[in-house]
Amino acid sequence: MGRVSGKVAFITGAARGQGRSHAVRLAQEGADIVVVDSCADVPSLEYPMATIEDLRDTEKLVRDLGRRVLARQVDVRDQAGLDEVAAEAAERLGGIDIVSANAGVVGCRPTFDLTDTEWQDMVDINMTGVWRTVKATVPHMVEAGRGGSVILTSSVVTLVGAANVAHYNASKSGVVGLMQTLSAELGRHGIRVNAVHPGNVATDMLFSKSTLRVFCPDLDNPTPDDLRERARGSDVLGQGWVEAEDISNAVLYLASDEARFVTGVSLPVDAGRRIG
Ligand SMILES: NC(=O)c1ccc[n+]([C@@H]2O[C@H](COP(=O)([O-])OP(=O)(O)OC[C@H]3O[C@@H](n4cnc5c(N)ncnc54)[C@H](O)[C@@H]3O)[C@@H](O)[C@H]2O)c1
Repeated sequence: MGRVSGKVAFITGAARGQGRSHAVRLAQEGADIVVVDSCADVPSLEYPMATIEDLRDTEKLVRDLGRRVLARQVDVRDQAGLDEVAAEAAERLGGIDIVSANAGVVGCRPTFDLTDTEWQDMVDINMTGVWRTVKATVPHMVEAGRGGSVILTSSVVTLVGAANVAHYNASKSGVVGLMQTLSAELGRHGIRVNAVHPGNVATDMLFSKSTLRVFCPDLDNPTPDDLRERARGSDVLGQGWVEAEDISNAVLYLASDEARFVTGVSLPVDAGRRIG
């Protein structure tokens, strides 16, 4: 028996990176998976998003594990699109038990240099997109009456602060507020709501021009090696970054019945960056 056998997990931003890793990890433990990703670039961002090929690759990885999978190109800013895929999941896969609201983007700019578009895109995707994701999925969980687990992806930045990411930090802090209120509202339905706060995770986002500049504002063309050099000193385990699977293992725990009395919690997976 897997740790989430017979459950259906709805994961946003799952074409690559942490979302793909969550899809694979939960599928390894017996869940059927709904994979959602926009697979479209955002003009105000400095790095590319996933592609349709990435989405198909995640779909195949889950299918190869013998689990059912529904993969759809939907933007988390599109409520009608999310509603449609959630309804399809409930109908074709028999419900939704786990939600991982993981889709997110990053940028780097001093606060008063941010354009209105940069600010708005960040808030629309990272915070409002999480609200839209739960708005589309949770009513199906409530109606089914078998409880569930909702995991919202925030960031360690909300716990330690950092310069030049006001829009990112504000949007990810909003996710924590949403998590706390949802956990209070949904407990009576047996639905737990928690947040994971990844530290640095080795994905395309970490190695994007934006994140490299957060760590190395003094360098013209910082590389992942420059980032690792500096970031190693910022966590007590001396890692610099963790792997996507490390976050997936935390998501798996929160999704599983092992965490049956854990709700309203902010869980950092950051190699102790808050402490160092
Ligand atoms: N990588 C890190 O160091 C780090 C640290 C803390 C928090 N996080 C958070 O972890 C989450 C996953 O990021 P990642 O590291 O896997 O980065 P990533 O860029 O590899 O993956 C993000 C995924 O989200 C998708 N996406 C972006 N905008 C979307 C939208 N509007 N609708 C649907 N999908 C969209 C992208 O196409 C991509 O597949 C994000 O919320 C991010 O903010 C990442």
